[in-house]
Parts: sequence; structure tokens; C-alpha cells
Amino acid sequence: MTKRKPIRKAVFPVAGLGTRFLPATKAIPKEMLPIIDRPLIQYAVDEAREAGIEEMIFVTGRGKTSIIEHFDIAFELETTMRERNKDLSILAPTQATPGDIIAVRQQVPLGLGHAIWCARAIVGDEPFAIFLPDELMIARNDGAGGCMKQMVEAYNEVGGNLISVLEVPEEEVSSYGVIAPGKRSGALTEVTGLVEKPRREDAPSNLILSGRYILQPEVMRVLEAQEKGAGGEIQLTDAMAKMIGTQPFHAVTFQGKRYDCGSKTGFVEATLAIALEREDMAEEVRAIAKRLLGDS
Ligand code: UTP
Repeated sequence: MTKRKPIRKAVFPVAGLGTRFLPATKAIPKEMLPIIDRPLIQYAVDEAREAGIEEMIFVTGRGKTSIIEHFDIAFELETTMRERNKDLSILAPTQATPGDIIAVRQQVPLGLGHAIWCARAIVGDEPFAIFLPDELMIARNDGAGGCMKQMVEAYNEVGGNLISVLEVPEEEVSSYGVIAPGKRSGALTEVTGLVEKPRREDAPSNLILSGRYILQPEVMRVLEAQEKGAGGEIQLTDAMAKMIGTQPFHAVTFQGKRYDCGSKTGFVEATLAIALEREDMAEEVRAIAKRLLGDS
């Protein structure tokens, strides 16, 4: 196997306006909305760490400072908890190594592609990962690991660019980025084309992008010259499409569960599904769900 440059950096674009969750997201970032007791951004950072990624680059905008605070020391809280002999281990996942949390600013939300481009100076000349935190990827209990871990393993085999994909019913394709699939081998599919939010009849497949990417740094140069695409936004999908043919490009089908927490019903589904998996509450939540369904 060829030695690949390791994936050490992850970009988390979190500068979007989160309009689908208003008014909740007027003063609170969408990425800080919790599924039970962990904000969405925490699930994404945990998944990155599990995949061996060290540097977390947040592309933020106005009103998003609480995301950075979440990974800082909370001096008063921790001191008071210590004085009261409370267990601080609950805060462990929020403790970052000094220097490993980096914030860059996207002044105007011009689109996902533009948000990624805002991180170019920190990404530099190495391959990097991207996480959209509102896509919640939950590992199965079979040891296969999280989505990014599976993607890094695939990257070590084939190199180049990788995106995670999943199958959706055909009537849903026009809300997402869609791939044109080539040869398949196990969970890996060659990508021969990419299109953002196609009309149902124009969609090349029903395999959609699901919020995880490993990209080569050349994408930054493509993004530099990028024009507006679907919805008048600078699209990452369009920039990636231009790289197909110049570098290897594969899709990985995640062996695990995905919840679209950018939509309200997806958020409710994730909350319920995760509550039903948690030892500390599954039984109680199952009884509540039964009672509610019985009443309807
Ligand atoms: P979404 O399309 O989900 O947009 O962006 P949004 O603003 O978060 O939410 P809605 O649709 O208004 O409810 C996908 C990801 O890209 C980021 C978002 O923060 C989200 O993580 N993004 C999007 C940016 O960082 N900047 C942008 O200009 C656009």
C-alpha cells in the first residue's frame, strides 16, 4: 500500500444561518442544538477524533462564538463543580488540546464552497476532512467505527478524494448533492460525476452526499474561481465535480446510521433513536413513546 499523507485537519463549516430552525436559532447556533445532552457539534468533533484527526477548524460567523466556548475551559463551572465534589468527567470530550481548536470567519454566508475556501490558509497543502455537523452519523455496535474512520480507512487504500454517500428514495434527490456512480467494489463506488440539487428527472442516481468529505488541497484553487451555482450559492459540489478526472474520486457508503438533523423531523428522529439506544434512559423513553402512540 502506498503511504498516504495522513488526514490531520478537519473543517467544520458552521457559518450558515440555520433558517429551518428559527426562532430557536436566532441567538443560538444550529450546531449547538442538543441531541439529548450533547450538542450536534460535539458528535462531529468526537467522530473526527475517533478517526485520528487532531486539528479542528471551525468556519464561523457572527453569533457563533458559543461553539468555540464549548471547547474551552469553563473556569467558574469547573471550580464550583470541584468544590461541590461533582464528577467532571462528563466535560472530558469538550477539553481540547491547546491550539487544536482554530476559528476562521466567513463574514457573509455565500455558500458551503465559500465557507470551505475561507479555511484555505489553515488547511495549507495537505488533504483534509470536512464535516457538516447537522448530518449526524452514528456508528453501529460492531466495531466498524464512525463514518470518518471508515472513510480514512478507504482513503488509505485508494487515496485522492472521498465523499460519503447514502441511498434515498428518488423523490428526495432534488434536495441534495447527487453522484453519478461508476464501478462499485464493496462499500466503495467510483464517482464519475456530481450535481447539486438536480431535478428528479435529471438526477444521475439516488446516491446523495451525506456531509462527510476527504478532499485534496487543490479544491481550494478550484473554489477560488468558483461562480455561484444552485440557489445562488458557491457550491462545494460544483468545485468537486471539476476535480473528477484529474484525481481519484470515490464514494464510501457508511455502514451505520445517518440522521438529517438539518430538518426538524430528522432532528426528532435522531433524538428518539439515540434515547432508545442509551442505557440510562432507553426503558423510560420506550414506555413514554408507547404511551404517546397509544393515545394518538
Ligand atoms: P445548510 O444548507 O444546512 O444551511 O448548510 P444552514 O444555514 O445551516 O441551514 P438552513 O438551511 O438555513 O436551515 C450546510 C452546512 O454548511 C454551512 C452550514 O453552517 C451547515 O453546517 N454553511 C452553509 C456555511 O458555513 N456557510 C454558508 O455560507 C452556507
